[in-house]
Amino acid sequence: MKNLLYLYLFVSVLVLNVTSLPFDDLDDKWEKFKVDHNRKYNETENIRRKKIFMETLEYIEAHNKKAKDGLASYGLAVNKFADWTDEEKRQMLRPDNFPDP
Ligand SMILES: *[C@@H]1O[C@H](CO)[C@@H](O)[C@H](O)[C@H]1NC(C)=O
Repeated sequence: MKNLLYLYLFVSVLVLNVTSLPFDDLDDKWEKFKVDHNRKYNETENIRRKKIFMETLEYIEAHNKKAKDGLASYGLAVNKFADWTDEEKRQMLRPDNFPDP
């Protein structure tokens, strides 16, 4: 009986380890992001954008870890700007992009 319990624990630990492996998880997220936000990039652009996206994800995950530890008061999530360069975000926020009142 005790052996069964150990086996059970061993198996659940294994399952946890497998599911928490990075294991192309980032690639999946990137592919999903592109579908969700209708992105069509050629190969060069895809590599460039994917890098930005992954940096954004890392930032978000680090931030959310802090939020979980009570070091930040809000959580972050991926949005459609996750693969934008800083320059593109700056462009987007320029005052002349807003209509006159
Ligand atoms: C890929 O897309 C980028 C951005 O739209 C463009 O600047 C570049 O010339 C394209 N490259 C090729 C090989 O088509």
